[in-house]
Amino acid sequence: MLSHLLHLHGIDSVVIEKRSRDYVEKRVRAGVLEQGTVDLLCESGVGDRLRAEGLVHHGIELLFDGRAHRIPMSDLAGGRAITIYGQQKVVHDLTEARLAAGGRLYLEAGEVAANGLDSGAPRIRFTHQEQQTELTCDFIAGCDGFHGVCRDAIPSGVRTVFEREYPFAWLGILAEVPPSTEELIYAHHDRGFALHSLRSPEISRLYLQVDPDDDIVNWPDERIWAELHTRLARRDGWSLKEGPIIEKGISPMRSFVCEPMQFGRMFLAGDAAHIVPPTGAKGLNLAMHDVRVLADALAEWYRSGSETLLTGYSATCLRRVWRVQQFSWWMTSMLHRFPASGAFDERLQRSQLEYVCSSTAAATTLAENYVGLTRA
Ligand code: DHB
Repeated sequence: MLSHLLHLHGIDSVVIEKRSRDYVEKRVRAGVLEQGTVDLLCESGVGDRLRAEGLVHHGIELLFDGRAHRIPMSDLAGGRAITIYGQQKVVHDLTEARLAAGGRLYLEAGEVAANGLDSGAPRIRFTHQEQQTELTCDFIAGCDGFHGVCRDAIPSGVRTVFEREYPFAWLGILAEVPPSTEELIYAHHDRGFALHSLRSPEISRLYLQVDPDDDIVNWPDERIWAELHTRLARRDGWSLKEGPIIEKGISPMRSFVCEPMQFGRMFLAGDAAHIVPPTGAKGLNLAMHDVRVLADALAEWYRSGSETLLTGYSATCLRRVWRVQQFSWWMTSMLHRFPASGAFDERLQRSQLEYVCSSTAAATTLAENYVGLTRA
């Protein structure tokens, strides 16, 4: 996305990616786009397929005690909505756009190292098709994910890390079955959280809270469906449809922020700088916000030589990062079962759920964060 936005500003860039195109376009990731993400993709000219295939949602359901409560997000958030559209599709659309515009992508690159970050000409070294290459750049954007090399290139005395781990993980499946629900269902259950989402009118996406040390081999398909039936059960006659599971895996959950998101001429964006727990589906959207801010800041520098926006990049992004951290932590805390919590905590959790489902003020807080704040 950053490379695409820079191109629209007439700025040249090179993308260095560890994986193959096939890998990044097939790996199943999130699929909920905030209104601002949709607008950015559409306004920057890569929204044709998104507009045709994306599924616009105006509400979500919260389920507890076997009863579902609808949060009418768009009514509460000025008409803004979310759109279901798989992250891999976004990656595909952007890759196509870059290649069509003659963009340079080095895929399956290895041994990446960033040097000279606090000089005026940082360098990035990598191997590609068995050849070692070194590029001298104006800037490096560290968009290389939580396990990438860029964050660690910031001297440890200069960065501060804020972190929280959760005592659970998510088991996610893709199933070849039409979704049993029109809107996403977030379920709080004594046995743990469950989520019914979707990818298309033919494909359902479902999640279960599991133990963080659990292994996917312990979860044959029948056990997954049985647990989903239990946690998503409700009193109004609704039922869950089953179908062949075409993909399953367990992902850990954590909150993580690195401050600042910049060192010299290197700027971190997305998971390289921050991770949120998945409840609320914010990861991709936050990364999109980072690169929009970064593209504007770089454009200003190339246009006028002014460093004002670049200097403010980290602080501008971190304001939204912490807003989203708080929201994702709050959604996670409200909906999951905490193994160590006692009866008092459970009563608090129940009270919070009831409040969100009965107070317009509380539901509005959820709605405006969920569809994405226009300003944070
Ligand atoms: C999905 C993921 C989420 O984390 C979420 O809160 C909602 C939906 C999904 O993958 O569809």
